[in-house]
Amino acid sequence: MGQLAAGIAHEINNPMAYVRSNLSMLRGEWETVRKRLGGNDAASGPVTDCEELIDECLEGVERTISIVKDIREFSHAGGGAFAPADVNLLVEKALRMASGQRSNRLRVVQHLGPLPRLRCSAGSLEQVFLNLLVNAFDAVGREGDIEVVTRCEGAFISVRIIDGGVGIPAEDLGRLFDPFFTTKEAGQGTGLGLFVSYEIVKLHGGEIVATSVLGEGSSFEVRLPLATAGEDPA
Ligand SMILES: Nc1ncnc2c1ncn2[C@@H]1O[C@H](COP(=O)(O)OP(=O)(O)OP(=O)(O)O)[C@@H](O)[C@H]1O
Ligand SMILES: [Mg+2]
Repeated sequence: MGQLAAGIAHEINNPMAYVRSNLSMLRGEWETVRKRLGGNDAASGPVTDCEELIDECLEGVERTISIVKDIREFSHAGGGAFAPADVNLLVEKALRMASGQRSNRLRVVQHLGPLPRLRCSAGSLEQVFLNLLVNAFDAVGREGDIEVVTRCEGAFISVRIIDGGVGIPAEDLGRLFDPFFTTKEAGQGTGLGLFVSYEIVKLHGGEIVATSVLGEGSSFEVRLPLATAGEDPA
């Protein structure tokens, strides 16, 4: 992420904007065609098909535009200054980004409890949640359940990402957060996701707690104190 992602997102935005505008105009023109054809029964099938096709294209374009918007906000905000933010919103954004191209047989259950605003680096925390979610999606593969639970526990905000995936062998639990520790194939993972995530959470005075049962699944809990001693490191 970062500069490159922001640049690509920006380049995608421009053509998408005119595809959207042209499709909207096409939709309008098509209305006129439909009215002129009036009661012509022979044409009614293809006319309706075309309408549906245009609407589906518009939906796709809207979705692309919203993903690009997320990417831009995400890469601009990374590492930014501390400011009050709604952690549930950050979790939701990360979820939208992580679930983009995943199989629809994956079920994500969300239990987002009421949370006080947290003084944090929003873009960085979003990256943490995205890293954990991508790992969870990788662990469950093409079919399975992921649960995301947020809640306020006294002086802490707790964000748990629980997956029913492959699980983690006991001997690996101790080195998950080491830089470059990965069990993924070359090109699939660099082993930096958890390391970077832990660094970010530490900057917020918090911790990540991992538990797992091999063959059953894993849980990663991000614990963020509502009041940090160190305050703004930026
Ligand atoms: N939810 C999970 N279920 C099972 N194993 C996991 C899970 N999360 C992390 N791991 C294990 O921890 C390793 C390190 O994770 P980490 O996110 O740091 O790196 P990575 O996913 O391999 O690569 P990347 O740098 O792309 O994130 C993974 O390779 C995997 O073996
Ligand atoms: Mg990872």
